[in-house]
Amino acid sequence: MLNQSSAPLLEALWAFLRDDHVPFYLPGHKRGQSIDRDLQALLGENLFRLDLPELPGLDREISDAEELAAIAYGVDRTWFLVNGSTCGIAASVLAVCQLGDKILLGRNCHKSAIAALVLSGAVPVYLPTEFNPRFELDCGVTPATLQETLIAHPDAKAVMLVSPNYFGVCGELDQIVSIAHAKSIPVLIDEAHGSHLHFHPQLPMSAVDAGADLVVQSTHKVTSSLTQTSMLHWQGDLVDRVKVSQALNLVQSSSPNLILLTSLDVARRQMAIHGYDLLERTLRLADTARSNINQISGLSSFDSSDIPNLDPTRLTVSFNQLGITGFAVDRILQQLGVIAEMPTLSQLVFAISIGNTELDIEKLVQALSKIQDHLPASANRGTRIPDPYTLQPIIKLSPREAFFAKTDRVAFSQSIGRICTEMLCPYPPGIPVICPGELITSEIVEFLSLILQAGGEINGCSDRSLETIRVIS
Ligand SMILES: Cc1ncc(COP(=O)(O)O)c(C=O)c1O
Repeated sequence: MLNQSSAPLLEALWAFLRDDHVPFYLPGHKRGQSIDRDLQALLGENLFRLDLPELPGLDREISDAEELAAIAYGVDRTWFLVNGSTCGIAASVLAVCQLGDKILLGRNCHKSAIAALVLSGAVPVYLPTEFNPRFELDCGVTPATLQETLIAHPDAKAVMLVSPNYFGVCGELDQIVSIAHAKSIPVLIDEAHGSHLHFHPQLPMSAVDAGADLVVQSTHKVTSSLTQTSMLHWQGDLVDRVKVSQALNLVQSSSPNLILLTSLDVARRQMAIHGYDLLERTLRLADTARSNINQISGLSSFDSSDIPNLDPTRLTVSFNQLGITGFAVDRILQQLGVIAEMPTLSQLVFAISIGNTELDIEKLVQALSKIQDHLPASANRGTRIPDPYTLQPIIKLSPREAFFAKTDRVAFSQSIGRICTEMLCPYPPGIPVICPGELITSEIVEFLSLILQAGGEINGCSDRSLETIRVIS
């Protein structure tokens, strides 16, 4: 009988560790016998003794572990993923769209959603997101925007949104789901940052509780599994479960690492049994951090009274009053021993999770209280420009057509008016500012240049310096 305090994969790993046998199966290091000794000294012997792909004999344990996760999240079926939410998002789109099908997609989507369009050949109809100018914050797609777009595009095959976004802002998902379901259109939610939401009533409603049909969560981002591990949840009858399985079969590794899978099993057990208490404590830590930071002169951090549907464990600190970029503060904080999750032109985002301690919060507040002593003279943030995600893209080709088209390389500064074949994203958050098939505009060139000047990183460009770019011939 399955119960949430068991962990079938953990038990299987223990049994495997104790089993004495001669290995003539893969992987080639044979339980660590040929592994580099320095790596073994660093990571320990057991890691390599247990470094195995999913073995046929463990099918039962894997399906039990996935079933326990489905019960914990209250869904019909859960799949464990070892290629991150990236592969869950690809599989979700492949399960509901084929070449030429329309998908309504929040423009603040992660780059993995665009990759899914290239793979499937689905054509995006972008849903613009609300921008809060006071807090310089992307607030996601509103139900009204979805409603209007569905009237204009009743033939859409699916809706796909990100919730929460990188700042912890969640969508009004119950309304979103009921609008789409009224037209029998499935809702796919990229909940990469929300695997904890289901386990505490003070957090915004999770996508599974809102009734979304497919929900992808990076368990590794917010709860406690190993990096690269995610879950894909399925419920309802709008999406064919077999299609999801087949799509996962296309995009997942055929050698999923058993340690990674086990880390999902124990992360589920931890949240199912202790999730409420762990999150209660995390919410207190986030509260303490926010109220102390708001007392530091020149700094401010919004909360749920400013922004509805905010996950308070995501802490955004604004440096606007100091006239310094988030990138510059990031560098100062790193020297003071504190590493944030994401800098923007005016803010830093800190991810507080069940893994943080009171001491971490004290150190964060202490470091932030010292930044004024370290301000470089040239840190000024300069001209303010509009958030690029609020600009409506000018689409000339589908992402798939542009990805496979013939290209020329031109100077980035001279590329205005050409059609982009690359997907350019400040990283983090990995949200494309421009996608393959879209017209390059002066606003986009200006914004990306500003990010680079401020010390940010742009991901997805074939020329890392972004001096040149590939455009359609
Ligand atoms: C919103 C969002 N979706 C999807 C992903 C991809 O997740 P993973 O790293 O688990 O593949 C990320 C990663 O940063 C993300 O921020």
